[in-house]
Amino acid sequence: MSQIIRSVSDLKNEIYKVKAANTSIGLVPTMGALHQGHLSLVQMSKKHYDVTVATIFVNPAQFNNKEDLLKYPKTEASDIKMLISMGCDIIFVPTAAEIYGEEPLVKLNFGYLENILEGKHRPGHFNGVGLIVMKFFGLVQPTGAYFGQKDLQQFRVISTLVRDFDLSINLHLAPIIREVSGLAMSSRNLKLSKTDQKKAAAIYASLELAKNQLLSGGKKEVVLKNAINHLSSKSGLKLEYFEIVDAETLKEKTTVNEGDRLALCAAAIIAGVRLIDNIIIEL
Ligand code: PAJ
Repeated sequence: MSQIIRSVSDLKNEIYKVKAANTSIGLVPTMGALHQGHLSLVQMSKKHYDVTVATIFVNPAQFNNKEDLLKYPKTEASDIKMLISMGCDIIFVPTAAEIYGEEPLVKLNFGYLENILEGKHRPGHFNGVGLIVMKFFGLVQPTGAYFGQKDLQQFRVISTLVRDFDLSINLHLAPIIREVSGLAMSSRNLKLSKTDQKKAAAIYASLELAKNQLLSGGKKEVVLKNAINHLSSKSGLKLEYFEIVDAETLKEKTTVNEGDRLALCAAAIIAGVRLIDNIIIEL
């Protein structure tokens, strides 16, 4: 039986009971508008841990753009239904007042990660992500937590928290679930028309193009140019960045060599909706 919990104090009570029974806990934080990508994380958590806690919370602290926050899709009733049908044990659905009744004084800064890729384009975003994830770690005290590769830099940020604060939490990075077109599933896709969703599949196509060219020995600058040209030729798609970086550090690679593990990362805006995607390859 799934439990739907809305208050911090009810969650604390429930976690206290679970911990007293020495049960392992898997945590899956989400912002709702759930899709198969989110559900795959719940499925993995259920397989590995005794109790799975999913959170649905559109975290205002991580939106650097107010309009983006206001138009973020909200489908709470169907999200809860989906999680119940997956057999998710605890579904935590707090309000912003419940979470941020006391405004946090702490500010998190992730060093060089703030100045690259998403960090560079969304100032303050990772502070907000870090704060909410630390709160959920504190409240849920999970044995393990699941995050998607789709937000690869977010995963690096959270790994930094676990490392720098010596948290005893196993982090799991889950593969990207895609539409048949290759488009990475995202809650934001709900804001796109069917035609724009088709256009958005060009992001994945450009990543695949770059991947194949790199795997067949293409030079970094040439590969980048081809991928960027591919995307620039699509009407209605505004490329924000396309980068080839080290898959672990996410630092830009000046040259690429055999044996390198690379992440190809892209962000683009379609019909006012900002989408990100990436592929990890090994040369
Ligand atoms: P949200 O965008 O709802 O994503 C919740 C989790 O699902 C994240 O770990 C994300 O990487 C993963 N995810 C999203 N799309 C996916 C896909 N197509 N395949 C696999 N996994 C996917 O990321 C957040 O929320 C927030 O920043 C959060 C961590 C909840 C903090 O507020």
